[in-house]
Amino acid sequence: MTMQEKLELLRQKRAEAEQGGGAERVQAQHEKGKMTARERLDVLLDPGTFVELDRFVTHRATDFGLADQKVLGDGVVTGWGRVDGRLVYVFAQDFTVFGGSLSEAHAEKICKVMDLAVRNGAPIIGLSDSGGARIQEGVSSLGGYAEIFLRNTLASGVVPQISAVLGPCAGGAVYSPAITDFVFMVRNISYMFVTGPSVVKTVTHEEVTFEQLGGADAHGATSGVAHFVHDSELESLTAIRSLLAYLPSNNLDAPPLRPTDDPADRRDDGLLEVVPVDANKPYDMHDVIRRVVDQGEFCEVHRDFAGNLIVGFARLGGRAVGVVANQPAVLAGVLDIAASVKGARFIRFCDAFNIPLVTFEDVPGFLPGLAQEHGGIIKHGAKLLYAYCEATVPKLTVITRKAYGGAYDVMNSKHIRGDYNVAWPTAEIAVMGPKGAVEILYKGEATEEQIDEYREKFAHPYEAAARGYLDDIIDPRDTRPRLIAALATLETKRDRVPARKHGNIPL
Ligand code: HXC
Repeated sequence: MTMQEKLELLRQKRAEAEQGGGAERVQAQHEKGKMTARERLDVLLDPGTFVELDRFVTHRATDFGLADQKVLGDGVVTGWGRVDGRLVYVFAQDFTVFGGSLSEAHAEKICKVMDLAVRNGAPIIGLSDSGGARIQEGVSSLGGYAEIFLRNTLASGVVPQISAVLGPCAGGAVYSPAITDFVFMVRNISYMFVTGPSVVKTVTHEEVTFEQLGGADAHGATSGVAHFVHDSELESLTAIRSLLAYLPSNNLDAPPLRPTDDPADRRDDGLLEVVPVDANKPYDMHDVIRRVVDQGEFCEVHRDFAGNLIVGFARLGGRAVGVVANQPAVLAGVLDIAASVKGARFIRFCDAFNIPLVTFEDVPGFLPGLAQEHGGIIKHGAKLLYAYCEATVPKLTVITRKAYGGAYDVMNSKHIRGDYNVAWPTAEIAVMGPKGAVEILYKGEATEEQIDEYREKFAHPYEAAARGYLDDIIDPRDTRPRLIAALATLETKRDRVPARKHGNIPL
């Protein structure tokens, strides 16, 4: 063969690998409103930056006639590329090849890019669209999954791991995303379940649709498995790019700085109006967050899940921060099981990746009740407490109104290594609200005067400030300048936890 002929053969084989499962199956994918693996990577990555690896890999199975059904690439497209110029490793499962199912070779390709991501300190992004273990391969396929789970676990806290579930993902296909840091799903396209509706019907006799059992909203609002839910793949992939802008490439890096036109000394008069005079009236804590952070931009995580606690990323003076905020507009901002777990996981992510935490606090306490107690609010609430205690990144707190009971301690109090803790003059810091406190003290026969007396005495921030539990009581308008100035002093913060194999968070 001449060089020209060899080059022609190479060109043909490279083109063949890009066909996936063939034109018919690609058409079927499009008819379902889904993009192909390669189309998805085109949206996710900066144009022209994708470098593919392993496009000539095929499976090695021979049973069930597979010896004659080899497809170049074996159902997953892997490699590296750039997002806003920054290196990321990617894999995108190709549903047109054996339903994106995972063979031994398919798993090896994923493991290779995961290893590169960890070794080179760059995020790994997985786009899943897979019928799970390749049934024809049996235990080799199960072994392949386990290899991936191990790598997900070892990469946890080393490089950011992001999963987009963009198809029906069953069995093993859901556990890898579950270990990763953020799961993205798309309505009417993404499904995640351990066992599908037909197995559920056989085992529990429940009749459920795909959407009810494991659709994007089921996981975005009810189970909390999904952190971001969108209406289209395009929005979902674009949102992954936006999220990455807040994250460092690995645990040894700082998050990228983004210079802003929003002045560091900007005061906001609107903050004087946010907290209602009546302490029992709700308000939307998003208002406070948006007025304080750069350009009002807030990338909310878990927006539809446990709305009584808000978590997400923003910037202050160009620096990325993780915001954790009680939300008085939902369940009065109480801490319950779902909110505690949501907050704890977010805090641990930020701590692992050097992202300072800013807490906005207005919390009446933990949610009472049989369901919460029997559901384990003690151990789940302890997760939030543990996560805050353990975190060594800069930790700032602004108490806007209520800081009652155990929740005062938990929400990044001074005692658990809060670096800069301030309150607005509207803050009420006490063991419990005036009415409840007086009813206990006077055995249910509290008068209005007694309640007022308690409020005068305890429902303010000055007792806490007198003990140094608050560093200052500030004019709400100054919140942004104060936080930015404090963050600047904490850039060189050094703090640590005692050396040990690992702690034992109450799971
Ligand atoms: C091999 C598979 C496959 C699989 C789908 N295909 N799943 N091939 N192994 N697991 C193939 C189909 O044969 C078909 O091939 C093509 O992919 C498209 O599948 P369809 O069924 O036509 O598509 P659709 O109707 O959209 O349904 C998608 C689906 C369904 C919901 C994912 O295919 C399905 O239920 N698959 C099986 C899911 C499953 O039970 N997986 C094993 C989980 S156990 P052709 O040639 O017709 O195009 C597991 C163990 C790991 O994963 C546990 C670790 C903890």
